[in-house]
Amino acid sequence: MTFPKLAAAVLLLVWLGEAFAAAGLPGGGALPQPSSSNCPTRCGDIDIPYPFGIAPECAMPGFNLTCNDEQRALFYGNVEVVGLSLQPAQARMLNVISSGCYNTTSKKMDYNDWHLNFTNTPYRLSHTGNKFTALGCSTLAYISDEFNKGKYMSGCVAMCRRGDLSALTNGSCSGIGCCQTAIPGALQYYRVWFDENYNTSEIYSVSPCSYAVLMESSSFTFLSSYITSPEFYNAHQGRAPVLMDWAIGNETCEVARRKHESYACVSNNSECLDSTNGPGYICNCTNGYQGNPYLKDPKLGCRDIDECADPNNYPCSVAGSCKNLPGKYVCLCPYGYKGDAKIGTCERLSKDQPLQLGAKLAIGASVGVLICLVGFLGIEVIRHKRSTKRQAADRQCDEYFKKHGGEILSEITRDGQGRNIPFTVYTREEMETATNSFDKAKIVGEGGQGTVYKAILRGTPVAVKRCKEVDESRTKDFVQELVILCRIDHPNIVKLLGCCLQYEAPVLVYEFVQNRTLQELLHPKKHHRTTSSCVVTLGTRLKIAAQSAGALAHLHSAERPILHGDVKPANILLGDGWVAKVSDFGCSTIDEKTQDVLKGTPGYLDPLYLLEYQLTDKNDVYSFGVLLLELLTGMKPLSKERNGLTLTVMFQESMADGTLHQLLDEGIADEVNMEVIRGVAELANQCLLVPGTRRPPMKRVAEVLRCLADKVQERAQPPLVLQDLMLADVGRSTSSSLCTHSQTTGFYSLETKAALSIEYAR
Ligand SMILES: *[C@@H]1O[C@H](CO)[C@@H](O)[C@H](O)[C@H]1NC(C)=O
Ligand SMILES: *[C@@H]1O[C@H](CO)[C@@H](O)[C@H](O)[C@H]1NC(C)=O
Ligand SMILES: *[C@@H]1O[C@H](CO)[C@@H](O)[C@H](O)[C@H]1NC(C)=O
Ligand SMILES: *[C@@H]1O[C@H](CO)[C@@H](O)[C@H](O)[C@H]1NC(C)=O
Ligand SMILES: *[C@@H]1O[C@H](CO)[C@@H](O)[C@H](O)[C@H]1NC(C)=O
Ligand SMILES: *[C@@H]1O[C@H](CO)[C@@H](O)[C@H](O)[C@H]1NC(C)=O
Ligand SMILES: *[C@@H]1O[C@H](CO)[C@@H](O)[C@H](O)[C@H]1NC(C)=O
Ligand SMILES: *[C@@H]1O[C@H](CO)[C@@H](O)[C@H](O)[C@H]1NC(C)=O
Ligand SMILES: *[C@@H]1O[C@H](CO)[C@@H](O)[C@H](O)[C@H]1NC(C)=O
Repeated sequence: MTFPKLAAAVLLLVWLGEAFAAAGLPGGGALPQPSSSNCPTRCGDIDIPYPFGIAPECAMPGFNLTCNDEQRALFYGNVEVVGLSLQPAQARMLNVISSGCYNTTSKKMDYNDWHLNFTNTPYRLSHTGNKFTALGCSTLAYISDEFNKGKYMSGCVAMCRRGDLSALTNGSCSGIGCCQTAIPGALQYYRVWFDENYNTSEIYSVSPCSYAVLMESSSFTFLSSYITSPEFYNAHQGRAPVLMDWAIGNETCEVARRKHESYACVSNNSECLDSTNGPGYICNCTNGYQGNPYLKDPKLGCRDIDECADPNNYPCSVAGSCKNLPGKYVCLCPYGYKGDAKIGTCERLSKDQPLQLGAKLAIGASVGVLICLVGFLGIEVIRHKRSTKRQAADRQCDEYFKKHGGEILSEITRDGQGRNIPFTVYTREEMETATNSFDKAKIVGEGGQGTVYKAILRGTPVAVKRCKEVDESRTKDFVQELVILCRIDHPNIVKLLGCCLQYEAPVLVYEFVQNRTLQELLHPKKHHRTTSSCVVTLGTRLKIAAQSAGALAHLHSAERPILHGDVKPANILLGDGWVAKVSDFGCSTIDEKTQDVLKGTPGYLDPLYLLEYQLTDKNDVYSFGVLLLELLTGMKPLSKERNGLTLTVMFQESMADGTLHQLLDEGIADEVNMEVIRGVAELANQCLLVPGTRRPPMKRVAEVLRCLADKVQERAQPPLVLQDLMLADVGRSTSSSLCTHSQTTGFYSLETKAALSIEYAR
């Protein structure tokens, strides 16, 4: 599963979770698995495998059946079910035989029409197993799907010309007294009726009735007596078996797999197959496994087949040589033999006939010569290949360069078109040297869009980002986007210095920023905690937030608005003096047009974006709102420990209950600044509003934050001595000295130590 798909699945889950929580409903859990002890697995003689069940809590939605204990019979509604199978995914039910009989008393035809409605159920009439069957000597029976909506209608004519019954042939259903026709696939509705112009009023003495039913073709054989007697009708009390295919949901496997919470193929070693009859999918155990692919329980789900226990179906040519392996089996030749014992090619190893010394030597020598020859040839071939490969690579480089519009770009930057654009187009050689051929050791970051390397280019440290891929159709726009991006000059946005277009995907060169991110600051990694960590003051947090908001507002207000699309603490870099620098755009960001690649990070992504797949500036506002919550609470937006409860939901609930103070990060929660904190919380709340039009623009967010940040500093300093120290340090720059070793100074008040220990403990 690729990252975007996975992200989509996870995000959808999160979003659904939020939606349910917001509506006050129980969370949208996984599909129910039957509680094995309480769920009956049989009704009468019929096995009931999951997803079927005879209580709603034992069955997948739509698959519950009713067991009539008196008749020991299984029912779907009023239709009796006489068989269920997972492989093939079919159910056998009893369909009512429609009839039209001449009534000698009333001198009229009595008709018995019938219909089945399986619309919006997992069942559909099997088009491979059933045939519409009509019996009679003057019979025209119609079959159709729903009257007003359906597209299907057909009919079947059965005749005995001149009332001659002698032409009826046992076992032959070819129009004489019997007619069969196939039905189309994906049929979920079925109706039968007779044409009243073809009736048995003339021939009732020999053949009073016509019959018609959609039924399993393999259980029907025509008998001449069916025309003259009610034998056919009476065989199963007026009913005939019909095969129903069933499937899960109405989506393809590809779509269903992304929705983890509803995906039905939960067993290990199971696979998903698109239904061959209508929408939906079915699950199957993969080759070499058997069991129920819809069950998580490893004892009931797909288990390895012990092929060796079933030599009839899994033969070995040599008895006792079978060895079972997960998903397969092998047949081993006896000791001293080699070959494949499955197909009987075991051969005795040649050691029983020792070779003469001379022969051995001769063989040795010729083998030696051969090896030398092959080796020499090999080296030549490799050399040749390498040289052609290099030539091909050079050609490829030029192609990539052209494809990404490199020529236009170098032209623009050369003459500047009146303006001097500080943008460099680097060559492939320069990039290779600077990054040591994209040495893994130089990686400083990895994101959804690409990998970032640290490099020294023309004497200055830079960050080199290798984009993962650029949408083919958008490569033309790419150059223009680069030109726009490189004109952006904002103190809180990572500067784009240049690019190299001689690769498959573009390589972008940015100014190098201290490798610390807001993410690391808020959630120090475990092994860093003991060495250097610190409580970040409210003032600092708000300053960073205000700067980031300002940067995003600047991007949004550009002539062609630039949308970030992945706002999160990991993308806020912190330079000298804890100056925030927004990063991670440039690979595919500009423009409001629909993007088919899902980008963004679970927890920060706007649920509206998932619905519309259309990135707007309001999506950035939402993500920023989540970031604000993270700044206030110090909690990650998603956490396994919270069982899928998102920070957004927790926050919204606590705002409603007035229990916000319980969520706040202990490092900043002091009474003095409570008013500011409430201001930030209110702002965050607005950023998370639905619909997006109610959210404030980024510009407004930045203004409010700046205002709030100023208020913090105006106040008397908070009682924590360490925080005072750090604030002072912020002014003096050098971020490495900001987080001083708490133990070494021995200077802190008791409260500070308490605050620190809480921070460490998280
Ligand atoms: C399945 O269960 C639901 C809810 O209890 C019920 O409404 C429905 O009739 C049941 N369907 C069948 C076929 O028993
Ligand atoms: C024939 O029709 C009469 C009157 O309509 C009805 O009472 C009778 O049951 C019918 N006979 C059969 C076999 O359906
Ligand atoms: C049988 O069909 C004929 C036309 O083929 C019609 O005239 C007659 O009324 C029908 N009889 C009954 C009992 O429906
Ligand atoms: C068949 O069932 C579906 C859903 O249960 C319903 O919407 C539809 O109206 C039904 N059709 C007929 C002809 O009764
Ligand atoms: C067809 O088979 C039935 C019994 O199986 C028999 O009574 C009948 O005579 C047979 N008809 C013909 C035409 O062979
Ligand atoms: C698929 O099923 C869902 C729920 O069962 C329903 O809301 C949706 O309309 C269905 N889609 C189609 C194309 O039938
Ligand atoms: C399914 O397979 C995975 C990896 O092979 C394994 O870690 C996991 O425990 C298995 N789950 C069950 C329920 O057997
Ligand atoms: C499902 O799996 C079984 C056993 O591995 C295999 O025989 C069968 O062909 C599979 N069904 C489909 C539709 O691939
Ligand atoms: C930051 O960079 C330095 C070297 O430049 C490296 O030693 C350190 O591990 C990096 N820290 C992180 C968190 O990546």
